[in-house]
Amino acid sequence: MAKKFYVTTPIYYPSGKPHLGSVYTTLAADVLSRWYKLLGFDVFFLTGTDEHTKKVVIEAVKHGKDIETYLGEITNIFKKVFKNLNIEYDRFIRTSDKDHKKFVQYILNVVNDKGDIYKGVYEGYYCSECENYYTERETPNLICPIHKKSLEVLKEDSYFFKLSKYKDKLLDFYDKNPDFISPEYRKSEIINRVKEGLKDLSISRTNTDWGIEIPFDKNHKVYVWFDALNNYLTGVGVLDNKKLFKKFWPADLHIVGKDILWFHAVIWPAILMSAGYEIPKMVYAHGWLTSNEKKIGKSTGNADDIEELIKKYGSDSIRYFLFKVTPFGEDGEYFEKNLVERNNELANKLGNLVSRVSSLAEKNGVEKTKNKLFKKSYLKKISSLIKNLEFDKSLNEIFTFVDVCNEYIQNEKPWETGVQKDSNESPESTKLHSEKILQNKKILYELVDSIKVISILLWPFIPNASEKIAENFGFKISYDEILKPIKVTNIKRGENLFRKI
Ligand code: MSP
Repeated sequence: MAKKFYVTTPIYYPSGKPHLGSVYTTLAADVLSRWYKLLGFDVFFLTGTDEHTKKVVIEAVKHGKDIETYLGEITNIFKKVFKNLNIEYDRFIRTSDKDHKKFVQYILNVVNDKGDIYKGVYEGYYCSECENYYTERETPNLICPIHKKSLEVLKEDSYFFKLSKYKDKLLDFYDKNPDFISPEYRKSEIINRVKEGLKDLSISRTNTDWGIEIPFDKNHKVYVWFDALNNYLTGVGVLDNKKLFKKFWPADLHIVGKDILWFHAVIWPAILMSAGYEIPKMVYAHGWLTSNEKKIGKSTGNADDIEELIKKYGSDSIRYFLFKVTPFGEDGEYFEKNLVERNNELANKLGNLVSRVSSLAEKNGVEKTKNKLFKKSYLKKISSLIKNLEFDKSLNEIFTFVDVCNEYIQNEKPWETGVQKDSNESPESTKLHSEKILQNKKILYELVDSIKVISILLWPFIPNASEKIAENFGFKISYDEILKPIKVTNIKRGENLFRKI
């Protein structure tokens, strides 16, 4: 049976259109999903939207639309942007999906029967115009970010999940599963906070109609996280598709932004422990894309229109740019000029190599020989880097190989025949001439075979370009083809892969 890989992204608040920051995780999940598909794994890749928030209601009203229409439009934009970025997910889950609502109510009953839910009083900072609570983390100055007026302290009845009960179980789990919280440098902060003690989690609100009803009290709606986190179970068929669920659960990897690591590394495993489900293998927290050192986002107003960026640069350049320079775990500054630089780097390095080699090979043909440029050790290194989500380092490694090929063609000059065209050739120089031509063809073969390796390894990152190369060179994109010498029949030059700007 093939091995499996189940990867998820956070589900996004559809209170606005997606921006670079909100496609970042989904692209990373797509890179990994493609990588594991290359390796022959059965992959399930889940993404979607987190719809039961007050902000959604506010936005719908602002646009003069009913909630369903508004959400339908925004989720379609998300899907379109994902498609234009070549993101191939297996399911786009919406928390308003029927199976999800049904499951959230189901798991609430299970956790309640276990004695892990009780009724209490929630006290928080409230804006009556938004009809919404804000945490101190969201508004340290206790001013409503939308209405710019002081928040009031309000109390209401709420159901609580007994998170505090799971402190020791969680600590024990982290101890036995040292890779669960990644990268390593984010782990101690979480564990120290858990050691300090856990507060029970408020999981319901009475002041809204928009949300999933608490099954044992129709006056309460589920409050965000208890609803949202469960998408990872619903998405893979926990209620309606036992076969799928059995195959893919537990998730192999939840990729999340560093701001929501706590919910995934602490609250989520506690809910799963309470309800009796296996715990995912890893939660990986990535850094933020920033602009002038501020997190890119709708509310910060520094989010470029992603659809414009795709039109201007194409999806490969955006994908390459996002992962080439900044280590995935850390924050990275975005300026459009960096994107232009990376786009041109692709054109200068990979684009040039492919166009030189393919036009010579198309014109002169190639001669099979052993490819001395490619070393198996590259492959081992790149595999382990991608597995560890060290995308920047894996791309650097692949592009070191691109550089090796560029130097090789530059030094060997497989376009020179060694003979002046109009010279009166002696039999000896004719022999030299044909030897040089044969040698050129062998050099080209090595380069063609190397480009095959490079394209297959780059497919998870820049699928458009890789697929075009594969078509023009006549090979299949699969891991097994990496070590098989390429069978060349005829190579087509094709059009330029990248547009230099
Ligand atoms: N709905 C919750 C997640 C629930 S998951 C069960 C949420 N939504 S969000 O839309 O606010 O954020 C979704 C993800 O996008 C988070 O992981 C967040 O870190 C990420 N990003 C949003 N802006 C970002 C950047 N500027 N840079 C990188 N990622 C950022 O939280």
